Amino acid sequence: MKPARLIAAAALAATAAGALARPVSAPAGPSPAQLVAARQAGMDMAATSLNLLRGGSTNGMPLKSLTFAATGLAKWAQVMPALFPASTRGEISRTRPEAWTNPADFASKSAAFSSATKSLAAAAAAEDKDAFAAALASTAAACKGCHDSYQVPPPAKPVG
Ligand code: HEC
Repeated sequence: MKPARLIAAAALAATAAGALARPVSAPAGPSPAQLVAARQAGMDMAATSLNLLRGGSTNGMPLKSLTFAATGLAKWAQVMPALFPASTRGEISRTRPEAWTNPADFASKSAAFSSATKSLAAAAAAEDKDAFAAALASTAAACKGCHDSYQVPPPAKPVG
């Protein structure tokens, strides 16, 4: 073997040995910036689901066919608060600092959202129109209730 090849082979062997010797470590968790991106994406999809649920029920779709969307929204509501850890406080986002200075209220608004979406999913599965309409209203109120306190409003659009 030529010396250059020998060196390359030795380097490769050393790397392989190093990789084997390294202890198995869990993959790194999401970074604060990724958590912000995940919560914003989840919120966007929550808005999409809410529109679908509104439109579907207004257009007389069988509520059972909306169970998938309603259940997804309920799953999101349950995990959503976990995407607002204190580590994300310094990131560029549209969360007001009050989300971290009033944690009990933020948690109670999250709980109201979770409870409204659970009722929504149950009403859809039961094909219960009245319960669905009531839960849809309380879900929308939960979105707005939290945004009024904890979301920096979207930037104003230029007029004209
Ligand atoms: C408990 C509080 C809370 C609830 C409930 C809540 N949101 Fe949000 N939402 C926020 C906060 C805080 C932000 C800003 C997130 C950020 O930029 O860090 C936000 C951001 C958003 C955004 C903008 C996301 C982006 O791309 O920047 C949309 C859209 C949205 N929410 C829709 C909804 C809808 C629809 C619901 C109800 C089905 C809902 N939210 C329920 C707190 C809440």
